[in-house]
Amino acid sequence: MSMSNCPVIAIDGPTASGKGTVAALVAGRLGYHYLDSGAIYRVLAVAVAQTGLNPDLSEDLKQIIPMAANLPVQFQGQSILLQGNDVSEAIRTEEAGVMASRLAVVPEIRAGLLARQRDFRQNPGLVADGRDMVSVVFPDSVLKVFLTASAQVRAERRVKQIEGRGQSADFQAIYNDLMTRDKRDTERAVAPLKPCEDALVLDCSNMPIDQVVATIFTWAQERI
Ligand code: DC
Repeated sequence: MSMSNCPVIAIDGPTASGKGTVAALVAGRLGYHYLDSGAIYRVLAVAVAQTGLNPDLSEDLKQIIPMAANLPVQFQGQSILLQGNDVSEAIRTEEAGVMASRLAVVPEIRAGLLARQRDFRQNPGLVADGRDMVSVVFPDSVLKVFLTASAQVRAERRVKQIEGRGQSADFQAIYNDLMTRDKRDTERAVAPLKPCEDALVLDCSNMPIDQVVATIFTWAQERI
């Protein structure tokens, strides 16, 4: 099977829609590889934060762009390594998410991270999670899912996630941050967040996760 025949299932949607968890579970059920593209943007965010560079300054941006193309990221089982250091937890902070969202508006950064994402397309197949998986990275995906949930539900999930790590979370601040990121991600010129024409839209606000996974698994089996 050539790589272009290697099936890709793309799952897109707003932040905290649960798409990461769902995509990983669908991949597990199909025996496919899994790409968390947001994690790649987040690793770059941590790398940039470590340098103290500011993506809003064009002088700094000139140094950040080559970092994207040469990002020393490795995925080892459940762990994500940046230059050999485990950043699995560091990339999940709100700060890393906000920085990732700021970096993601820069076309040269998106282009730099492209090859790294396409490397994940390997037999027997791939479930890819992220904004532009369909429009840019894997336009020939066999199944395109837009997984969404209300802002209220997404903010509640994010609070639970943070509290689950033993940290405290302020619902209102998280809700506001989510709305700001939605707005930036939806309105940006490059790869904006919106369902593509042939995507199947799944609103999981009131659905238990196993039902979401089962629905996508059934859709996948109809297409592969
Ligand atoms: O899905 P996430 O919260 O882990 O993503 C973090 C940020 O990275 C998000 O605000 C937008 C950006 N991103 C992107 O622009 N394109 C992707 N394919 C994945 C993430």
